[in-house]
Parts: sequence; structure tokens; C-alpha cells
Amino acid sequence: MTATDRDAQIIIRGGTPLRGSIAAAGSKNGALYLVAAALLTADPVVLRNVPQVADIREMGRLLEALGATVAIEGATVTIEAAQLTETFAPADLVASTRASFLVMGPLLARVGEAGCAPPGGDAIGVRPLDVHLAGFKALGAAVAREGANWVARAPRLKGARLFLDYPSVLGTVNVIFAATLAEGVTTIVNAAAEPEVAMAADMLNAMGARISGHGTGIVTVEGVAALHGCEFEVIPDRIEAGTYLLAGAATRGSVEVTGARADHLDGLLAKLTEAGARVEVSESGVRVAAIEPLAPIQVQAVPYPGFATDLHAPMAAALTQATGVSIIHERVYDNRLLYVGELRAMGARLTTGGQSVIIEGPARLNGTPVRALDIRAGAAVVIGGLCAEGVTTIRDVGHIDRGYSQLVERLRALGADIDRR
Ligand code: EPU
Repeated sequence: MTATDRDAQIIIRGGTPLRGSIAAAGSKNGALYLVAAALLTADPVVLRNVPQVADIREMGRLLEALGATVAIEGATVTIEAAQLTETFAPADLVASTRASFLVMGPLLARVGEAGCAPPGGDAIGVRPLDVHLAGFKALGAAVAREGANWVARAPRLKGARLFLDYPSVLGTVNVIFAATLAEGVTTIVNAAAEPEVAMAADMLNAMGARISGHGTGIVTVEGVAALHGCEFEVIPDRIEAGTYLLAGAATRGSVEVTGARADHLDGLLAKLTEAGARVEVSESGVRVAAIEPLAPIQVQAVPYPGFATDLHAPMAAALTQATGVSIIHERVYDNRLLYVGELRAMGARLTTGGQSVIIEGPARLNGTPVRALDIRAGAAVVIGGLCAEGVTTIRDVGHIDRGYSQLVERLRALGADIDRR
């Protein structure tokens, strides 16, 4: 991040209903998994439809530090990890994104040794690594803390049947990575079923892995001797698409996200329909229009295919405009509510109890200086700003840049009065 990026602010003059159509970008989280997967082969891996966000560039730098070459040209990223020169991730390169820990599985599987400090990422709660580490151990690795790093070692991993205490998304991906080159069959019970996990397994299969059951709670990986290169296209970002659809609904507009996969957005589309928005799924994508004010709803943020925790904060911002009392229960993280103080500063009426939020609407929001405290809290204040009267100034937009490429340009294309300075 340059000093200019750090000082950047987003300025929104709210009150305009968003109308129009934008194209879905590639999945930010999913693309991070594919970048890490490229460490599993000596051949080049070419990724298409990669979103141009800060987290991808950070992950690229991390792979370079391990000896890979990474070329980012627009939405195409080419990675070649012919030789891995390091087996420990440099501490300064794992600070910003949690996905950094995904270098562990590939390094362990391919080189027999991997080290990484607990990674950074959003401050959205306690984010342990026990699922990853228990998985590596179950596959026969010796796992220990050495100074700042978690270190795993095994001359050759051995397939096993293992149970994940929690269907951790990155934990599932890391264990799948490790199991691809293990001897024998691994069965992961209580695996994460998120579309991005399934996509990562699809790419590994295109590289010669033998994975089945991905996209469900039980995933089986038959180990192979080596993986080869491939070309692969990243799926559309359901969280980004969901954010723009929510912005459309919140402003009483009509927004289409072309290329968005409705089958990845069931949780959101069901709740928006329940709130009275008109949801249209067509071959081109998904449109959400709010002709009447939204009705209040109750939402539970849970693992996929439930309502996504990453859409909790944007949904809360939209529900400030609903007529009546809505409730969101957060069931994934224990600190997802950083957005609450910022929306309150704008005039939202929010009450919290534990990780639940009661939202009294409709609230007349007023433009005011606020901060983007994590990626999705950032999206929530953007939606708040779009609904507010007057000028909203958002600081700490580096968080937004981590997850949303060209947010200002895309919202402008939908008619928003928004600038970056
Ligand atoms: N958990 C454990 N043990 C572990 C790992 C996680 O108990 O070893 C618990 C956590 O404490 C948390 C829950 O599992 O309560 C969910 O964490 P999970 O591991 O599933 O999340 P993650 O894999 O670290 C990814 C996304 C997040 C997204 C979650 C849930 C990336 C880089 N991050 O994180 O995305 O919220 O899955 O869907 O893919 C974002 O994009 O804004 C973001 C935070």
C-alpha cells in the first residue's frame, strides 16, 4: 500500500437510488486459494478472471518470497513454482491476509516442510488454526510451534480419515492441498462446502488430483505422485455481487450483476425476497429491485449454504432502511460487529446483544466521517453512505481495497455520486 492509498478517502453524496448493471468480478477469496494451489506443481499455472485487489498482490509477493515467479497482467495471473527456495513464509508477508497460511499445505505436501506465523487479516474475532494443524497431524506430520512460526514436517504424508471440529474454509482447503500428494486416501468429514472450496478442488483435479465430494461436507482425496500445470478461470465473487445487490435494495434502486451465480447466492436472495425485494434470475445474471421499502427480516449468518457471514454487515446496512425491527444473529465470528458503531454515528438505530444485532428501521442516515474497520464493515458504511443525506467521508479505505476492485468506478456506473481522494 502506498502512502497515497493509506491516506485515501471515499466520499459519497447519498440519496440516489442505484440503477443499472455491472459485471461480477472474480472471487477474491477463491482466487487466493488458487494462487496458493499453484505451489503444488513445478509447472506454470495460469489463472483467469482474477480480481485486481490488494490481497491478491500480497499473496503474489508471498509466493515470490518462496521462490515462485508470479506475473499479474490485468485479470490474468501466471505462477510458476518450478523451484521452491524457501519453506518458511516471511513474517512481514503474512501480516495482511489470512489466506497466507494456505502456503502450509502445499509446502508440506511438496517439500516435506512448511513454516508460517499465524497470519493477519480482519480483526473479526478469534481466528484459531487448530483445524489446519490437526489436519496436518492426522496426515502424519509433526507439528510444533518454533518461535513465531507454526512448523509442520513429514517426509511423505499418509492419507487418513479425519474429522474437522469446525468446517473452517481455509482449514478445509489447506488439508485438501496437503492430501493431494499424500500416500493413500484421505476422507475429510465436516469439510467446508463453500463454492470457493469446491472451485479449488476443481482446479486441483484439472492439475491431476483425484478429489471427490467437494462442495459437500465429506470430501475424499486420493493421493497422487505429482500434479501438473493448468489454466483455470476463477468463479464470480458471490460476496462482491451480494454487496452490490444489497446496495441496490438499500437505495430503493434496481441493480443487476451480470455473471453472478444465483445458485451461490441462495441465502441472500431468499432473505431479500422475504424482505419484499424483487429478485430476477436470468441467463445474464441476477437483478434485485426494491420498489417498496424493505420489510424487516431475521437473518442467521452461518457456514455455506447458509447466509454468508461476509454479507452480514452489508445486509445490516440495508436493513437500516427496512420498515420495522430486523435481527441478525452472527454464528461464525465473535467480533463481526465493528460496523455497528460506524452506522450508529450515521444515525442508525442498532442494539447489540452478544453477536446479535437488532436493527430498528427505517432510519434517516446522515452523512458523517466514518471508518472502514474491516473489508465487510467497509462495505456496510459504503451502503450507509449511499442511503444517507449529505456527505459521508470514509477513511481507512485500504480495507475496502482488499476485497472490492474498482468500487468507486463500479458504483458510479450505477449512478452513485462517489469519489476517491
Ligand atoms: N475456526 C476454528 N478453528 C480453525 C479455523 C477457524 O475454530 O482452525 C473458526 C473461527 O474461529 C471462526 C470460524 O471457524 O469462528 C470461521 O472461520 P473459517 O476458518 O471458516 O474462516 P477463514 O477460512 O479463516 C474464510 C474467508 C473469510 C470468511 C470465512 C467464512 C478467506 C481469505 N477468508 O476465512 O472471508 O469470512 O472464510 O466464510 O477466504 C472476507 O472475505 O471478508 C473474509 C473475512
